[in-house]
Amino acid sequence: VSEEENIFSCKTEQEIHQQRATIESAVRGRVDFDNHAVKLGGIQAYLHEIRRTNRIYMIGMGTSTHAALATQKILTSLTNKSVSVVQATQFIDMEEPIAKTDLCIFISQSGETADTKAALDYCNQAGALTLGITNVVGSSICQNTTCGIHVNAGVEVGVASTKAYTSQYICLVLLGIAIAQDYFSMKDQIREIIDGLRELPMKAEEVLNHKQELKELVELIQERQAIVKEGMTFNTDKSNSLYILGRGYQYAVAREAALKIKEIAYMHAEGLCASELKHGPLAMVQENFPVILFALNDQFKTHAFNAMNQLVSRGCVPFLVITEGDELELENNFKNKAEVPFHFVLPKSTPCLQGILAVIPMQLLSLYLAQARGCNVDQPRNLAKSVTV
Ligand code: G6P
Repeated sequence: VSEEENIFSCKTEQEIHQQRATIESAVRGRVDFDNHAVKLGGIQAYLHEIRRTNRIYMIGMGTSTHAALATQKILTSLTNKSVSVVQATQFIDMEEPIAKTDLCIFISQSGETADTKAALDYCNQAGALTLGITNVVGSSICQNTTCGIHVNAGVEVGVASTKAYTSQYICLVLLGIAIAQDYFSMKDQIREIIDGLRELPMKAEEVLNHKQELKELVELIQERQAIVKEGMTFNTDKSNSLYILGRGYQYAVAREAALKIKEIAYMHAEGLCASELKHGPLAMVQENFPVILFALNDQFKTHAFNAMNQLVSRGCVPFLVITEGDELELENNFKNKAEVPFHFVLPKSTPCLQGILAVIPMQLLSLYLAQARGCNVDQPRNLAKSVTV
């Protein structure tokens, strides 16, 4: 047992804390920070073909689909193609008409997920160009795709994927850059992302140092759930619910956070697009109902602040995740300082990478919730690391 392992209570906790290093290994040898260029050995020979494809599909299951969702917008912007994110089973159920001119990207930590493999077979039969993004060299998905990118996160033991997720996310951003970098019109955008990547490991480390605030948040969530349960007038189990809301780039973070909490803390959590609130989910909301809302500094911030006001006007003050520099704007939203809600402050990154810094505190939150509820974090009941059937 190494010294590092002794500091952590479980593998998942250790893997969450390895993310400074795994972010570095996802970019090592691939990004030229001085010349703002990317080289991905596993796809280099196919770049020309990749650029000529018409549409892009990103396919996976569970957390891997969330990595696709998190990068859908930046890939659309960098490639100027239509990019779809589809769950592997849904992809087959819908009998998607796939053509030789499509690029189908298969994202899988293990490279062995049966549902994702079935979708890969389907695309191979259709003659599409297939690209694998996996963490296991030599896995089935590596072998059966035309080309690929290894995420290089090292062995992931915890059933709930953490470090592999952030590395998949980075690899998808790198793929977008590799496709776009020959186009002059993309130069500024690429420069900004690569500068963001350079600072990302240090900022991830910064986030990992804010454990105490997240432990406080666990207590606040549990307090609220107890209050809601106490005052319940009808028989539902909403006392153990939690909403996590995001928009734009942060929708994926909300979904991934909710999945982590369900997986390891056995608590009902729903990751929603903030705009969906008024179309149904708002009915569950009452005073003290626990909600986490991402209101980060990107083009969707105004929408997120609107969602906050929508909740506050119904007596439900959400817990917020905001970006550094926005503290004053948040305070100004409230008449007196005592009303300003709990807010976790993230270091700022370029918008398409902000989701990496935003998901790390959610991974820690799910870990602390799980520990507070006495769950087996590394081996959650009913789940397997790799679902091969
Ligand atoms: C299982 C795991 C999930 C994982 C999913 C996809 O359901 O419990 O945590 O996200 O498989 O796994 P993959 O190895 O394909 O990324």
